[in-house]
Amino acid sequence: MSLHSTVRDYSYENGRRYHAYRNGQYPMPNDEEEQDRLAFMHHLFKLLLGGHLYRAPMDQTQMPERILDVGTGTGIWALEIAEDFPDAEIVGTDLSPIQPTWAPPNCTFLVDDAESEWAFSPSEAFDYIHVRSLGGGISDWQRFLEQAFEHVKPGGWVEIQEYETWIRSDDGTGEQAKMLMDWQYKIDEASRGFGRHMNVAPHLAQWMEDVGFRNVQDDVYKAPVGSWPKSSRLKEIGRVGKVTLYEAVEPYTLALFTRVLGYSPEDAREYVDKVRAELLDGSHHIYVLYHYVYGRRPLEG
Ligand SMILES: C[S@@+](CC[C@H](N)C(=O)[O-])C[C@H]1O[C@@H](n2cnc3c(N)ncnc32)[C@H](O)[C@@H]1O
Repeated sequence: MSLHSTVRDYSYENGRRYHAYRNGQYPMPNDEEEQDRLAFMHHLFKLLLGGHLYRAPMDQTQMPERILDVGTGTGIWALEIAEDFPDAEIVGTDLSPIQPTWAPPNCTFLVDDAESEWAFSPSEAFDYIHVRSLGGGISDWQRFLEQAFEHVKPGGWVEIQEYETWIRSDDGTGEQAKMLMDWQYKIDEASRGFGRHMNVAPHLAQWMEDVGFRNVQDDVYKAPVGSWPKSSRLKEIGRVGKVTLYEAVEPYTLALFTRVLGYSPEDAREYVDKVRAELLDGSHHIYVLYHYVYGRRPLEG
């Protein structure tokens, strides 16, 4: 069987489709439903930045020539950055070949496991490496960040955009959302049990410093869930935030609850319905923190 067909030999579980390459390693689906969710997430990550794709000052001294997007998913971020930097070469890697075939000539995609040795030689080093929503996909973040350090040019930037898989509120209404609270504890426990912790966002800045990145910044944005905030900007973000959280409940739950926590598929689905029902009740003033963490490889060392 050719590599081409093997990476598309997807597996199916509980009505959802999962990646084939390194089968079983990543607990989220890769089907059309998930791709639609990723499109909403892309919108939300950008909305929080006022429409921008990144925070690192990677284009301030000179224009980037090579950009890598690790765990590119549908490639939506890579395709947009390719338009913004038409003279740069953009590469997106993922376990799943779910990117469009009509990419612009400066944008290519390849199937690669970010937990293995990355597929690039030293002469192919990047000016900027972007990673978004890879929590749950990496078991050893230190090794992952060491590889990012090795594959970014001295003076280049690595940026990780990641939201906390933790629901907060400032007025105590979050704690009243009993199903949502129970869900987040169970996802935390199950993803640790799976060996790929979801909620890595709060630790990334420290981990980047630990492997040698300098000028590390952790820009944190509050993303409300629901249209409860007063400001019209936050209301808009909150509407999108609610849709994305609603859409996230099933893909986050099905594989982790059945594979790790021992739920039957029926019980897992019933659980999903209960979490979603509570989310639709708009009385909780909840929000999620989004981290945009970036650091620079020093020129020396
Ligand atoms: C939540 S999606 C985010 C996709 C994209 N970064 C975005 O923000 O639109 C996570 C992606 O990471 C990929 N992934 C997970 N673990 C990976 C690994 N070890 N190596 C490469 N890709 C991985 C998944 O296949 C999935 O497409």
